[in-house]
Amino acid sequence: MKLEKIAFNKYKEMEIFLKQKNIDILLFSGYRTYQKQVLLWNNNNNPHNLYLAKPGFSEHQTGLALDIATKETGLTIHFANTKTFKILKENAHKFGFILRYPQGKEDITGYAYEPWHFRYVGEEIAETIYKNNLTLEEYFYYYLLLDY
Ligand code: DAL
Ligand code: ZN
Repeated sequence: MKLEKIAFNKYKEMEIFLKQKNIDILLFSGYRTYQKQVLLWNNNNNPHNLYLAKPGFSEHQTGLALDIATKETGLTIHFANTKTFKILKENAHKFGFILRYPQGKEDITGYAYEPWHFRYVGEEIAETIYKNNLTLEEYFYYYLLLDY
């Protein structure tokens, strides 16, 4: 498993923070090559699958995205009902991570709700996104494109 160093270090910090609260977390995937995404894409037999990015469009290719969940739930929607998810959702921004594909924002992100997919954006941007209940798309639009 590979990740950009900054994302890996921050993930490790977050893991320690969770451990102190007796909460277990497992890293299921990090960096993915273009070729790996091609394999996933070609093995996908549902053309309406909103859980998968086209090759060349996956955040996993940046090394800044990670899929995390509990051992018990794995990368399933059941992860959303765990204490681990609740604590993560409330604290990930302190380590620079955002929940990238939230529930209720599917029409903005273009992807299904993925409670396990977090992306490193740095503490400052993560805090803005978290406090204003934004997606990364909305952040780009309101904070970078619009000229205030
Ligand atoms: N599951 C996310 C959308 C990806 O394939 O990058
Ligand atoms: Zn993911």
